[in-house]
Amino acid sequence: MLHVTYKTDLDHVDWQEMKTTLQQDNFDNGRSCEQLKTSFENSYATCIAYAQNQIIGTARVLSDGVCNAYIVDVWTYTPFRRQGIATTMIETLLSSLPGQHVYLFTDDAVNFYKKLGFVEQPVGLSKIIGTWLVNQ
Ligand SMILES: CC(C)(COP(=O)(O)OP(=O)(O)OC[C@H]1O[C@@H](n2cnc3c(N)ncnc32)[C@H](O)[C@@H]1OP(=O)(O)O)[C@@H](O)C(=O)NCCC(=O)NCCS
Repeated sequence: MLHVTYKTDLDHVDWQEMKTTLQQDNFDNGRSCEQLKTSFENSYATCIAYAQNQIIGTARVLSDGVCNAYIVDVWTYTPFRRQGIATTMIETLLSSLPGQHVYLFTDDAVNFYKKLGFVEQPVGLSKIIGTWLVNQ
């Protein structure tokens, strides 16, 4: 039986492994290993799923700690999907957000989030400032 471990700390994360697996799974959005590390370290809460010490899932949330939170980087490595891994990662994050309004954006996993109690909002707006991933 598959044994999955969920970690909410970032101790000993192999950022190169995370990036390589994301690339293999066509879910790499272009961040360098250093940018991935910074993204996760600057998050309010994170959850990384491991199977036999291999990274197989990620989820993280940005939050002001009071009223507003935004979930990003939700991903389960394809061979491990439909086994409840993302559900556990999201529920782990939500447990750190009592009283807060949690928002997210998704292209094609609407039903996944609806099952977790999320409700579609009529309009979302976004803008990239300057050039994507150029932070200086
Ligand atoms: C969406 C995603 C994170 C789901 O991960 P997962 O670990 O397979 O999810 P779970 O096993 O917890 O799914 C729980 C339930 O959600 C539903 N579900 C799962 N993936 C779904 C999808 N892509 N679309 C619609 N419903 C989905 C199913 O009903 C599933 O239950 P079931 O397997 O008993 O039918 C995964 O498919 C993924 O990484 N996709 C690519 C990245 C992505 O789109 N991330 C979301 C961006 S916001």
